[in-house]
Amino acid sequence: MTTRYRVEYALKTHRRDQFIEWIKGLLAVPFVLYSQPQGVFEGQGVIGCPQTREEAHRRYSEILRDVEGMIDDHIANQNDDKNPFPSKLKLLVPSVGPFFTRLPLEAAFKCQDRKRYISSRRFVSPSFNDVRLILNSAQIMAVTTYGTLQLATFDGDVTLYDDGQSLESTSPVVPRLLDLLRKNVKIGIVTAAGYTTAERYYSRLHGLLDAMANSADLTPAQKQNLVIMGGEANYLFEFSPSAPHLLAPVPRERWLTPEMAAWNERDIEQLLDVAEAALRDCIKSLNLPAELMRKDRAVGIIPMPPDGRLPRESLEETVLVVQKILELSSAGRSRRVPFCAFNGGRDVFVDIGDKSWGVNVVQRWFAAAPGGVIRGENTLHVGDQFLSAGANDFRARSVGTTAWIASPAETVELLDELAELMGKKLS
Ligand code: IMP
Ligand code: MG
Repeated sequence: MTTRYRVEYALKTHRRDQFIEWIKGLLAVPFVLYSQPQGVFEGQGVIGCPQTREEAHRRYSEILRDVEGMIDDHIANQNDDKNPFPSKLKLLVPSVGPFFTRLPLEAAFKCQDRKRYISSRRFVSPSFNDVRLILNSAQIMAVTTYGTLQLATFDGDVTLYDDGQSLESTSPVVPRLLDLLRKNVKIGIVTAAGYTTAERYYSRLHGLLDAMANSADLTPAQKQNLVIMGGEANYLFEFSPSAPHLLAPVPRERWLTPEMAAWNERDIEQLLDVAEAALRDCIKSLNLPAELMRKDRAVGIIPMPPDGRLPRESLEETVLVVQKILELSSAGRSRRVPFCAFNGGRDVFVDIGDKSWGVNVVQRWFAAAPGGVIRGENTLHVGDQFLSAGANDFRARSVGTTAWIASPAETVELLDELAELMGKKLS
């Protein structure tokens, strides 16, 4: 049972996605009007009579079709430079950002309803997770049917493997990533995990790297289609069958964008100094069993002992405090160096750059022509951290389409859905 404390905590805006909450609110109305909970006592069973289910299904579909239309209108508005006014959707959900593709929400709802029996439920209304998965389905339908998926980028922890774990050779994610490479989709693993050596990335990703090295059917060109972008946007490695640990570091001068090349080392140091002081203050004031970890492009706190756990509230408080202090500091206010403060679930890190830069570097790296870029509508970033504050995948939304998963098992389901759609398109 959800306690009042949990309910109030979940209501905090930094823990809510306003677009998803708004759609959930729209779907709650037909749920209340059509779900007929008394049917359970009238001998209709839990799944209910077909007419009730059909009615709920029809109403939910209609609402999602209307939202789909509103997104179309929003896209027309965002593409019209001469129109100074916000779209209707922007007025209703002020936090909504730009869309790279239209979203076939009605079709996506029908697909998820077949899997999740949303219209059959009498006591549980369409939930946050229902809406999140409908949006994911709509997004992958869009990137495969309105255009072509050229680049898929993946977060690491929670997306490819469980938090703090590694991508093992037995993981069901591995054959699905190989399948994408076989279809000539480029892959970037864009992770916050910031290491300077190939060995550390090999230890986290060996299941995939070994499978690629041993694969007889991937061509040498397809094997070139995997890169690791670590520390959000700080360390680039390319797959290389002959390199130690199967990864070759790519020197920064080969991939930094002109804007990134202008980030100055003194500003970076200053920003990390402010973040370090703020993190130290949080350790003290919240009495955290944690130690500080300073790297050349990041600073964070990790639990002490390493298998310990920091209370979720303390992690969130820390990330919000550090974010605010950085924003108000002279290093942060100057905006010369972008940064990303996030709650990693067991730790808190402040990194230089963020995943919008990381994904963008990969979009440029794999562009067909020098100086080109794979466009946002041909890119899909899959991650688990999409809340607007204290989450690091969120920033990737500004450069490409995204899918919000909650576990590696959901990534597997998403990749299966994607493979089916790509297969249908080819046939
Ligand atoms: P992601 O989910 O792949 O983006 O990885 C996030 C996790 O990587 C964090 O929660 C940390 O546990 C870990 N990590 C290791 N090094 C760093 C770093 O330099 N910056 C941020 N996170 C790091
Ligand atoms: Mg993650």
